Amino acid sequence: MNASPDVSRQVIPRLGVNIDHVATVRNARGGDLPDPVRAAKLAISAGADGITAHLREDRRHIRDGDIARLIASISKPLNFEMAVTDEMVAIALMTKPHAACLVPEKRSERTTEGGLDVVGGYGVVQPAAERLKQAGIRVSLFIEPDPAALSAAVRMGAPVVELHTGAWCEAITQGHGDEAQRHFNRLQEAAETGAKQGLEIHVGHGLDFSTAEIISTFPSVMELNIGHFLIGESIFCGLEQAIAGMRAAIKRGAAKRAG
Ligand code: PXP
Repeated sequence: MNASPDVSRQVIPRLGVNIDHVATVRNARGGDLPDPVRAAKLAISAGADGITAHLREDRRHIRDGDIARLIASISKPLNFEMAVTDEMVAIALMTKPHAACLVPEKRSERTTEGGLDVVGGYGVVQPAAERLKQAGIRVSLFIEPDPAALSAAVRMGAPVVELHTGAWCEAITQGHGDEAQRHFNRLQEAAETGAKQGLEIHVGHGLDFSTAEIISTFPSVMELNIGHFLIGESIFCGLEQAIAGMRAAIKRGAAKRAG
């Protein structure tokens, strides 16, 4: 009897491709090229299950017009990454993306640092999440793999949390094995606990082929959101091949899921 898992019956997590850094390159010259919407369409034809774009307060990469064009022209769901501000809530309510991922945002940061403070900031995040939910937008909270944050997400009625994988990936890159293991254990525990509490589990930040494969072994992970590595890798092999490689890594991880 064949003891290897039956991949055809296994859930393969979705791949959301973050196109922010195509816009970073475009904005370096101030013109229209490379076009992040073209990259989004190419990503979808290469196997992305959705597109993520973060409209930052300072518009350092994605611009308002990009969001409008993405919504008008892509054939897969848009995950609109946004800070919890009145301006961003108003834009989400006007543009109606499929999903909104609420993230913390500091002007001085190079990328999203740390998860959203859904415990201390409950009073601010909850009403924003509720308004989005009432408008039919699927709300996801980008949080640290932390039990208190998970409980707050449940209390808020958020259907989805995205667990911040950045610290784990960074510890691996730096060669800090013990620290990486600690972050890994927290992620594993949070993914399991969150799923038991009824949350859909997504993961993102800093993932590459290797870490995406590892985290796809978690039975509860339903979606990975990946940007910087894929856009960087596409310099060497093209976006389609980078995405195909990532899908293959996710599939290999999912094939190792228990059960
Ligand atoms: N998920 C969230 C919530 C993020 O803020 C980011 C970074 O914009 C990502 C995923 C993607 O991270 P990376 O670009 O490191 O793959």
